Amino acid sequence: MGKSLEYLDIAVKGWMHDARIKMLAALDEDLDVWTKSGRNDLVTNIDKEIEKFYIENIRLLYPDANIIGEESFTKADLNVDGLTWFVDPIDGTMNFVKQHSHFASMIAVYENGKGIRGYIYDVIEDKLYWGGPDIGVFCNDVRMKEPSNDTLRNGLIGIGAPYLIHNFCNLQVVALASSGTRMYGSAGIQIIHVIEGKCVGYVSYLRPWDFAAGKILAEVLGLSVKMIDGAPLNMLVSSDVLVATKNAQRDIAKLIKKS
Ligand code: IPD
Ligand code: CA
Ligand code: CA
Ligand code: CA
Repeated sequence: MGKSLEYLDIAVKGWMHDARIKMLAALDEDLDVWTKSGRNDLVTNIDKEIEKFYIENIRLLYPDANIIGEESFTKADLNVDGLTWFVDPIDGTMNFVKQHSHFASMIAVYENGKGIRGYIYDVIEDKLYWGGPDIGVFCNDVRMKEPSNDTLRNGLIGIGAPYLIHNFCNLQVVALASSGTRMYGSAGIQIIHVIEGKCVGYVSYLRPWDFAAGKILAEVLGLSVKMIDGAPLNMLVSSDVLVATKNAQRDIAKLIKKS
């Protein structure tokens, strides 16, 4: 990839810190808000601005990079040959608009389909979770340990609301078999809870930019990141994703039924 990973880390952290300042400032201003696929699917002027800001900066340093950004990708960008960047400028836009909290900014870098760096920024908490297979995972400057391999029975499970409401794949039974269910409306924040050991799993329908960074961080920390039926994820396809401890993944596999 030419430039070193240390160089990449310094650059990306700088952009994400600058983006955080812009997001926090925007919370004190009137946002322009539009719907996308429906009234529960929002995008704001700040999603667009931050994505543009990231893409311009990536292009300056890596002119040949392929960039899959939630708000601007085209079909032509959907490949993972060479260096591919996944950009989710604000993950949890509904929370950004309604709650002014519980949202993240996410960037992931893959080389020929292999994850090399994931970054998930919990903007309000000012905690950047980042790392890759060669260095491990850090929360800001503190190295993270692998979470304990808890079972479903002994842990909380994050579930995307529509999946639970419609009992997708028997997930109501999975929820009842756990210690409790949690829903935060941001894939990034939910995956942080799994890598920190606060939840044993998270399952939701996710798009590539929702899971690209979390997949890298979770796998480095010994967690399982697969489709709910145990099949491997395709980085270019939206999927029913389960991020979980290996024990919880095994427990959930026994309970799910094809929908
Ligand atoms: C959404 C959030 C939400 C998840 C959706 C995502 P966005 O991301 O992560 O928790 O359930 O599938 O699309 O649109 O706010 O970036
Ligand atoms: Ca969105
Ligand atoms: Ca997202
Ligand atoms: Ca987003």
